[in-house]
Amino acid sequence: MAKKITPKVSWVGKVDWELTRFHGDEYSTHRGSSYNSYLVRDEKVALIDTVWLPYDKEFVARLKQEIDLSRIDYIIMNHNEVDHSGALPELMREIPGTPIYCTKKGEAILRGHYHEDWNFVNVKTGDTLSLGSSTLTFIEATMLHWPDTMFTYLDADGGILFSNDGFGQHFASESLFDDTVEPEALMREAEKYYANILSPFSVLVAKKMQQLLAMNLPMALICPSHGVIWRKGIAEILERYQAWAAGYEENQVTIVYDTMWQSTRKMAEAIAEGIAEADPSIKVIIKNIALDDKNDILTEIFHSRAVLVGSPTVNNGCTFAIAGLLEMAAGLKLKGKRAAAFGSFGWGGGAVKLINAKLTEAGFVLADDGIAKPWVPDEAALADCRLYGRNFINPS
Ligand code: FEO
Repeated sequence: MAKKITPKVSWVGKVDWELTRFHGDEYSTHRGSSYNSYLVRDEKVALIDTVWLPYDKEFVARLKQEIDLSRIDYIIMNHNEVDHSGALPELMREIPGTPIYCTKKGEAILRGHYHEDWNFVNVKTGDTLSLGSSTLTFIEATMLHWPDTMFTYLDADGGILFSNDGFGQHFASESLFDDTVEPEALMREAEKYYANILSPFSVLVAKKMQQLLAMNLPMALICPSHGVIWRKGIAEILERYQAWAAGYEENQVTIVYDTMWQSTRKMAEAIAEGIAEADPSIKVIIKNIALDDKNDILTEIFHSRAVLVGSPTVNNGCTFAIAGLLEMAAGLKLKGKRAAAFGSFGWGGGAVKLINAKLTEAGFVLADDGIAKPWVPDEAALADCRLYGRNFINPS
């Protein structure tokens, strides 16, 4: 159902309460999500973004209840991944000639996805579109997180930035606004979104934030394409994005491991004890990758100043789950953090060496060669692990 959010703007998106996986199985969504679409009504009417493909018919049917579709003058596509453009073919069957405003790369992506010769209008930073008493201004946000991405700014109702994936969160809510949901859970989802989707592009995010702040645009709302609308927390989310884009770390160490017969788990716990002994102010998080959620763990790593990665040796290498995590960490460019490897082995070993190589390749800063212990660690081996933890955090 449409919801009026300002005198000129209505939310016409879809809240997806049952979404548990996004991007295939690449991203866990414990709190569901939403695909936000916005209708801006002035003398001219603009629709900003659509919703994910499975909801295309529902989206168009509900939009018809809100407005005679022939009254939509412009469609603005800020970003054309399927979660935002999926309902576009269904909509265009109803209003086929309506101009679609998007970046040049947005047009290429829409053509590549849907193979339709729609009425595209390419826009770039600074281009404007008058709606009558108000104006839309386009701001390219290339590679945040796709080549086509742009923001759209409305200079009415106090100023509204339609930011698409930027400032988004996978957070289902019927109440739509940030100040109507639990703030810590919301900020955690916003950070998870940044860590798992935007962190590879932090250099570009930092530049875009500078540009955006220099524009000094009045902003009563930031309306992303996923999750709740920022109303009360605008300054906070802008500050968070600046921090997250700039080598972010809290006073936290994350220890992530896999284990087959509990030896590597015992090492992980002993290393954690050593860290806590050396510096009780540090928050230490221990996660078993095989039992926990990969995206939550990656968010913990993003949040940390250092990480230790442990695996038993399996066939001279590490486990499937640890290899997958390190592959994702490399892709997300969670680089620059202090790191080390640990693990148990039976005969030849090899996991620690492989993890060291993968951590280095991913851009982490290796503290040393790591620590490996044979078979089941005895008291002496666990004491070594505690000492290793102390030295890791307080190198002599
Ligand atoms: Fe929410 Fe990049 O699509």
